[in-house]
Amino acid sequence: MKLWGGRFTKPTNQLVEEYTASIPFDQRLVEEDIRGSLAHVRMLGASGILTASEVDTITKGLEQIQKRVLAKEVEFSIAHEDIHMNIEKLLIDEVGPVGGKLHTGRSRNDQVALDMHLFVRRSTVELIQGLTELRRALVAKAEAHVDTILPGYTHLQRAQPVRFGHHLLAYVEMFGRDVERLQDSYKRVDTMPLGAGAIAGSTFPIQRELVADELGFSRLYENSMDAVSDRDYLVEFLSCASLIMVHLSRLSEELILWSSEEFGYVELDDAFCTGSSMMPQKKNPDVPELIRGKVGRVIGHGVSLLTTLKALPLTYNKDMQEDKEGIFDTVDTLAGALALTAPMVEGLKVKEERMRENAEGGFTNATDLAEYLVTKGVPFREAHAVVGKLVLHCLEANQSLLDLTLAEYQAAHPAIEEDIFHRLSLEVVTDARSAGCGTARERVVEVIQKKKEEIDEAFAWIGYAQT
Ligand code: ARG
Repeated sequence: MKLWGGRFTKPTNQLVEEYTASIPFDQRLVEEDIRGSLAHVRMLGASGILTASEVDTITKGLEQIQKRVLAKEVEFSIAHEDIHMNIEKLLIDEVGPVGGKLHTGRSRNDQVALDMHLFVRRSTVELIQGLTELRRALVAKAEAHVDTILPGYTHLQRAQPVRFGHHLLAYVEMFGRDVERLQDSYKRVDTMPLGAGAIAGSTFPIQRELVADELGFSRLYENSMDAVSDRDYLVEFLSCASLIMVHLSRLSEELILWSSEEFGYVELDDAFCTGSSMMPQKKNPDVPELIRGKVGRVIGHGVSLLTTLKALPLTYNKDMQEDKEGIFDTVDTLAGALALTAPMVEGLKVKEERMRENAEGGFTNATDLAEYLVTKGVPFREAHAVVGKLVLHCLEANQSLLDLTLAEYQAAHPAIEEDIFHRLSLEVVTDARSAGCGTARERVVEVIQKKKEEIDEAFAWIGYAQT
């Protein structure tokens, strides 16, 4: 007999049972479900809806089930559809008919919303933790490479020299915005839906604040219909997650490129690479490749949920059961990617000489020569043309700008003096960019300090966030 079997005259078709059950995946919410039920039953007692002894029996029953779940002694059944009814059935088996009082004043509609809020709230904090640890690893690497200079690229063509620390700090900014976005969406995740009932609220004198307090929620839903049909916080979560994956993928792509022999800028730690079954020489960057490859599924989960929600009338519709697998997979995919990227960055061997060699080639200081002329009163457009010609000359002679003689410079433009050789050295070129958010050493060092403070603040936030 189903828990809802009263008005039915036939057993459920076997295929229907299999098709509609969510227990194969929503058993992942078992902890949240029991935690929510414990808070609910205590509230029912405090509100005089159940007696103290009923509360005691149900509480002990739930705690017993919790223990059995932890010990993996519980078998869930698709006959009971989802985690909520499986737990209720186990409770009734455990403590007898009084277990049937647990669901007083509650529906699975507000119950599943509560479970998902609890799950996503904890996951949000865990992701912020993972992101912050990754930021810490990137900042440490940046600090070790303030004085490593490589070509910066636009269009994947050598553009201007940058400090490697500066390059890594760009990712620290990206992941910092990800932290901010998650912290902002956390406010909406941290909202308590229980008490909405199936749709319209409760006829019992429930005290939702007690449940919210016990579970550490800072706000309550103010409209019961919204409470049971809101999945916005899941869309926000998936959207934040998609962007984090995109950021991880961009970093992965650079690690893959840089570790190719063609670039030769970094070497990934052996422990983070794999070999080829056929080619003995191969060391493949499988981890960043897989992270890059897994972006699609996370973006897909976001698109999928939005599509599911698009034309749903208020309030709960069974379609919403489709929200779960994508969320679980997203949490797992991201947690895995973050957990791997931080140590991969830490273990990165940086080939400073190769970076410098490439920064010295490729005329990455050509802009600086043009700007040098501008400081001598030459209009920028004219300076641009003069340097363009010099670059062409050097290309033909297989030289860099620093190989030219003073006489060659002065033939190109009489305003060029002896100090040009100092001015075009990589250190001076990068340090000249001290205005605004540039790659000058002093700026990079300053930003590293600032990021360390942000990271400390994020860890403090994690310390007081509710999970
Ligand atoms: N298994 C359902 C879900 O995941 C729980 C809510 C079911 N509510 C209902 N009235 N069928 O969405």
